[in-house]
Amino acid sequence: MKPSVFVHTWTPDDVLEDLRTKFEVDHHDHINNGGLPASEIHDRVRGKDGFMVLGARVDEELLQAAGESLKIVANCAVGVDDIDIAACTRAGVQVTNTPDVLTDAVADMAIGLMLAVGRRIVEADQYTRAGRFQGPPFGLFWGAEIRGETLGIVGMGRIGQATARRAKGFGLDIVYHNRNRLESAREAELGAAWLSLEDLLARARYVILLTPLTDQTHHLIDARRLSQMRPDGYLINVSRGPVVHERALLEALQAGTIAGAALDVYEFEPKMTDGLAALSNTVLTPHIASANVATRHGMIALAAKNLSAVLAGEAPLTPVNRLDGSG
Ligand code: GLV
Repeated sequence: MKPSVFVHTWTPDDVLEDLRTKFEVDHHDHINNGGLPASEIHDRVRGKDGFMVLGARVDEELLQAAGESLKIVANCAVGVDDIDIAACTRAGVQVTNTPDVLTDAVADMAIGLMLAVGRRIVEADQYTRAGRFQGPPFGLFWGAEIRGETLGIVGMGRIGQATARRAKGFGLDIVYHNRNRLESAREAELGAAWLSLEDLLARARYVILLTPLTDQTHHLIDARRLSQMRPDGYLINVSRGPVVHERALLEALQAGTIAGAALDVYEFEPKMTDGLAALSNTVLTPHIASANVATRHGMIALAAKNLSAVLAGEAPLTPVNRLDGSG
């Protein structure tokens, strides 16, 4: 008998066909048909060998509903904050994610948002669309310099490093903060200097957040941290919403203690703190940093490969937890 899997994500036809040759597949396309309520997900994951998932929480309750047959949770994103990793490990369930395939897309977006907020591109677009461009352009939408300014990257993993490489091309000085310092050869290659978070916030004109959401990074940027930023500084968040205390950010923007913010993610997603949208110095996008066609396909294909590998008794390509008792 083929192993059975529950796939709770939009899935391209070729990937779905391949999965169907190996598994009994119960598929729910969460993009075209909406995400399912937890109770229905629990019903459909019951007795399955694998769960490929996007847009649903994996917690103790789900693991209990799934039962002992479950061997893998293949997350279709790099961020695993929706998954209780410790509970999966205790239950002997392999968790995988989708690093690398989305690194360039997210780094592109980080740079795009930095340029958009610094150079006031969205504000200017709205002005032009509204038919207000009727005179000489010289005085319009003077924004911030890019070349020669300092970019502070908070979270210097794969995406942080890809962002630093791009930023070099724009002539930015690069500083970074990360729990673990990079090796000096890597720092030299990237031209990036490590700073404490406090020093980074005080130095950087642009601060890009690229850290995973963990207990340690929840509200990493709160009112106190915002007050350490430069008054002409911009905050760009392409990591996870709860890394920023969103109300404190709104207050800083309203008070003008920082110059602007570009957000792709929100603390209470998909809700956004009232007031952010009314500000002209915010750029707001709906969690689309990895959303280009090839990357979206690549993420789902990688999750499917992880699912197939683990259910064939092979090592996962991109594991998150280790099941040998070491973490
Ligand atoms: C997107 O937000 C991801 O974590 O892949």
